Amino acid sequence: MLVFKSLSVFCLFSFLRLCASFDTITPSHSIRDGETIVSAGGTFELGFFSPGNSKGRYLGIWYRISTEVVVWVANREAPIGNHSGVLKVTDEGEIVLLNNTNSIVWSSNTSRAPASPVVQLLDSGNLVLKDGTGNNLNFLWQSFDYPCDTLLPGMKLGKNFVTGLEWFLTSWKSTDDPAKGECSIRIDTHGLPQLVVMKADIIKARAGSWNGLSFTGYGRSMPNPIFEYQFVLNETQVYFGFTLVNSSVFSRLLANPSGVVERLTWMDRTHSWEIYFTAQRDQCENYAYCGAYGICNANGSPVCACLEGFVSKSPKDWNSVEWSDGCVRRTPLECNRDRFLKYTNVKLPNTSSSWFNTTMSLEECEGMCLKNCSCLAYTTLNISGKGSGCLLWFRILIDMRVLSPGGQDIYIRLANSELVRKKDCNHEGWNEDMELPVFDFMTIANATCNFSSKNKLGEGGFGPVYKGTLQEGQVVAVKRLSTNSGQGLNEFKNEVLLIAKLQHRNLVKLLGYCIQENEKMLIYEYMPNKSLDSFIFDHTRSKLLDWQNRIDIVGGIARGLLYLHQDSRLRIIHRDLKASNILLDDSMNPKISDFGLARTFGGDQTDAETKRIVGTHGYMSPEYAGPGDYGLKIGQWN
Ligand SMILES: *[C@@H]1O[C@H](CO)[C@@H](O)[C@H](O)[C@H]1NC(C)=O
Ligand SMILES: *[C@@H]1O[C@H](CO)[C@@H](O)[C@H](O)[C@H]1NC(C)=O
Ligand SMILES: *[C@@H]1O[C@H](CO)[C@@H](O)[C@H](O)[C@H]1NC(C)=O
Ligand SMILES: *[C@@H]1O[C@H](CO)[C@@H](O)[C@H](O)[C@H]1NC(C)=O
Ligand SMILES: *[C@@H]1O[C@H](CO)[C@@H](O)[C@H](O)[C@H]1NC(C)=O
Ligand SMILES: *[C@@H]1O[C@H](CO)[C@@H](O)[C@H](O)[C@H]1NC(C)=O
Ligand SMILES: *[C@@H]1O[C@H](CO)[C@@H](O)[C@H](O)[C@H]1NC(C)=O
Ligand SMILES: *[C@@H]1O[C@H](CO)[C@@H](O)[C@H](O)[C@H]1NC(C)=O
Ligand SMILES: *[C@@H]1O[C@H](CO)[C@@H](O)[C@H](O)[C@H]1NC(C)=O
Ligand SMILES: *[C@@H]1O[C@H](CO)[C@@H](O)[C@H](O)[C@H]1NC(C)=O
Ligand SMILES: *[C@@H]1O[C@H](CO)[C@@H](O)[C@H](O)[C@H]1NC(C)=O
Ligand SMILES: *[C@@H]1O[C@H](CO)[C@@H](O)[C@H](O)[C@H]1NC(C)=O
Repeated sequence: MLVFKSLSVFCLFSFLRLCASFDTITPSHSIRDGETIVSAGGTFELGFFSPGNSKGRYLGIWYRISTEVVVWVANREAPIGNHSGVLKVTDEGEIVLLNNTNSIVWSSNTSRAPASPVVQLLDSGNLVLKDGTGNNLNFLWQSFDYPCDTLLPGMKLGKNFVTGLEWFLTSWKSTDDPAKGECSIRIDTHGLPQLVVMKADIIKARAGSWNGLSFTGYGRSMPNPIFEYQFVLNETQVYFGFTLVNSSVFSRLLANPSGVVERLTWMDRTHSWEIYFTAQRDQCENYAYCGAYGICNANGSPVCACLEGFVSKSPKDWNSVEWSDGCVRRTPLECNRDRFLKYTNVKLPNTSSSWFNTTMSLEECEGMCLKNCSCLAYTTLNISGKGSGCLLWFRILIDMRVLSPGGQDIYIRLANSELVRKKDCNHEGWNEDMELPVFDFMTIANATCNFSSKNKLGEGGFGPVYKGTLQEGQVVAVKRLSTNSGQGLNEFKNEVLLIAKLQHRNLVKLLGYCIQENEKMLIYEYMPNKSLDSFIFDHTRSKLLDWQNRIDIVGGIARGLLYLHQDSRLRIIHRDLKASNILLDDSMNPKISDFGLARTFGGDQTDAETKRIVGTHGYMSPEYAGPGDYGLKIGQWN
């Protein structure tokens, strides 16, 4: 043994190639605690170790560049109490780990005995059992078939349908204990296979099905200089894995003890592992966060919404955080008369009750879904290239999210009547429960002469406002959110959500909205006499307002506010009331407009906190603009 030890020290510090035989174990040559074997290229080492503060001894494989990173453990459930462990290969080809009493602590499960068993640590980190005599290159056993918490290049995550062997990762219990933790990453093979993260028996997160380029939950993954994904699905197996672009730039996928999946890459410059990617980004990652037929939008407010044509199962407060009840269909399906609404840029729902065909076209796919009354949705199976194949859903649509950019299209079945007005508009899913008409982009473009400058009424907070005439002759004002600024989206949503619920003669009326690709527009009734500031701050126009007009305008604004503060279904503070936000109709009735900054409160709530002071300086009460108090408690308004 002494000879062996000094030889292996010799190996470490001189030319590794000469020592090729020391990457193997044979029946006549075992290793004890304290000795190691090193893969031929010098990347990986196998031996005994104690993780963290643990005293137990484990047999593992680690990177030689960073010996604390153990990628595989043999006896993860059965530590050896002291340094008495021995790793052997028997003449029957069984790899066994023995302790001081020669009890078997761990063993491989070899199906067939080789004539001359040889155990070898490969430079991929795979510990393999092969026949030392024959030319049979097949491995009789390999550690890559029994992953622990780390996926190395060349390893598989998935299932062999022939042998039933499943490849999956399980986290360590803690950094001191390599025993199986609660978290696992595996491929669920029901329906179209999908990658899931489980905690015990419960699904925590779902990366989803493979779309030819990536997992649907991660949008379109960018080509990168470090690794390439592999995904194979055929009659005999399904697996996911990756290969290194440059075999000397290391990268691994880890299920860490807290159940988070990370990709780590070795940085030669800093001599450390850097997190390249972590699979926990926002609350939409939580499996089925918005319930059945709900869709999650991390940038939305609220985060959850029902799919178009569906309503909340249990009607609840706007700001409720409990969404797991999900949504139900508003109009029952009628089977053959149903139609499909296209959603773009989404993560596809759970595919465990789906059906697929790799050769059908999208048209055949639609036909097949329409013919089967229990089919709920369809899409392209493989979006790589021109797109191919067909994927159909049955039973339930669950765990969808908005992925913008990078998501996929899906066509969701709705009763014909739900689709009549929604033609061509792309909904991002947040417009739940609104009985507000949706306008088609072309209709609005046509009505405003293609947004010609002649029709421009002015510039609002987040974009221009145009005058338009619908085909029926109705005159409207169209507020168009600037497409180039990311700004204003929250204000836009706020306005649609709030104002759709309000109706009062002193509030401007929202007639509808349009969302299509990057276009977002609000359509209001047209106010021919413009805004109050155009009168009171204009020397000549201000003379047009006599005292009776002025009293009527003040009274009207006050009635509008009283409604917002006290009489409406929602209690609302406008927060940006000023002359330019008071519009005047043809009889000079005032109407409050622009609810982009408004806030709503619960019906019995009398106080509220605001994190951010909003509004226009000069119009805010000094105590609000300064310390941020509303000045009055809301309760005092009653
Ligand atoms: C060796 O294994 C036997 C049987 O499992 C066990 O009783 C004994 O404590 C072990 N010894 C050490 C040092 O772990
Ligand atoms: C391991 O422990 C056993 C008793 O528990 C002892 O007989 C043996 O010598 C120990 N071996 C080493 C290498 O410490
Ligand atoms: C060994 O393999 C057999 C069948 O191939 C299986 O029944 C048994 O559970 C396996 N044992 C271990 C320890 O994996
Ligand atoms: C997806 O389609 C591309 C070409 O269109 C093909 O090369 C690839 O193998 C397909 N992927 C799967 C998983 O079928
Ligand atoms: C399934 O895919 C694997 C890996 O690409 C391949 O080796 C095997 O031959 C395929 N089997 C069938 C039936 O296509
Ligand atoms: C691979 O990476 C190593 C280390 O970063 C570098 O020296 C080498 O040039 C790379 N090889 C290729 C083919 O990119
Ligand atoms: C998908 O949904 C079904 C319920 O229809 C559930 O039983 C299953 O566990 C879910 N699977 C995944 C991978 O989310
Ligand atoms: C897939 O669709 C093609 C064309 O419609 C058909 O010929 C084939 O049998 C289908 N495959 C399966 C498994 O249904
Ligand atoms: C509809 O599809 C389901 C699931 O694939 C299947 O069980 C059922 O027989 C189909 N019904 C018709 C009418 O084709
Ligand atoms: C556009 O307007 C013209 C007349 O102004 C009308 O004939 C045409 O049908 C309109 N097109 C659309 C798509 O509304
Ligand atoms: C608007 O533009 C489209 C194409 O850019 C054109 O076909 C259409 O006639 C224009 N409509 C009006 C009302 O100018
Ligand atoms: C308000 O608009 C109506 C209709 O356009 C117009 O007849 C009236 O003169 C306007 N009033 C003022 C004060 O400008």
